[in-house]
Amino acid sequence: MESRILRVENLSYKIGSHWILRNVSFNMFRREFVGIIGPNGAGKTTLIKAIVGDLNDYSGKISVSGKIGYLSQNPERQRDFPIRVREVAGMGLYGERGILKSFRKSDWRRVEELLETVGILDLKDRKAGTLSGGEYQRLMLARALASNPELLILDEPEAGVDEMGKASFYRLLDSLKNEKNMGILMVSHDIGMVFEACDTVMCINKTLHCHTAADRITPEELQLAFSGDLDLFIRSRDHFEREHNI
Ligand SMILES: Nc1ncnc2c1ncn2[C@@H]1O[C@H](COP(=O)(O)OP(=O)(O)OP(=O)(O)O)[C@@H](O)[C@H]1O
Ligand SMILES: [Mg+2]
Repeated sequence: MESRILRVENLSYKIGSHWILRNVSFNMFRREFVGIIGPNGAGKTTLIKAIVGDLNDYSGKISVSGKIGYLSQNPERQRDFPIRVREVAGMGLYGERGILKSFRKSDWRRVEELLETVGILDLKDRKAGTLSGGEYQRLMLARALASNPELLILDEPEAGVDEMGKASFYRLLDSLKNEKNMGILMVSHDIGMVFEACDTVMCINKTLHCHTAADRITPEELQLAFSGDLDLFIRSRDHFEREHNI
């Protein structure tokens, strides 16, 4: 296995007397594409927030080696704000370059490369508010990639993207993983796609129910993780059985 980029040890978090996460421990490596699945309210976004540093009062330990690129769940869209696609992507460079006014030609070239990578270079001068849902997600991905992260974290990036769009989005992630040697940690409700695209699957429902190679997971492990949401489990199991011919 390649070198470790993330270590989570005994992560627990509660709000009042209510446990949101309990004793979550795992390691993640470069060139590993990890899919996190679990029902609504399972604590997936909370886990992501702890990893990216948006959550302070947890117990346990999180160590990240390298830069993180992060695409949050439901990023806010300001449809009327007159900012262009290339400027939104450029915001991802703020950390190293400062505000857009101080951008040099080479920075704008980098922005164009990013837009090309995610397949929306032809939209660079459009107002960001006019993009479709799928195009906007690609823009958010370009922004998250701007800092050349070693660890890319995506919280439900395919929400609102059609099936064709999802498949090409996952292919793009897979090629980024291989070409840039990145680790990708992605939360998704698209269980079928997760099993297809990811190397490793983690089932979370307050605690980590399973953490295994995507082709090794059993229906029993899935059932355990989704016990609170029978409908979701039945659909996922159906998907699972069709795809794996059990
Ligand atoms: N600030 C908060 N105050 C109270 N409860 C919270 C807060 N933030 C999260 N929670 C609760 O913590 C639980 C886990 O939330 P979280 O957003 O991590 O779930 P999730 O697994 O990402 O769900 P989804 O699939 O719907 O995005 C939920 O029950 C949620 O209501
Ligand atoms: Mg969430």
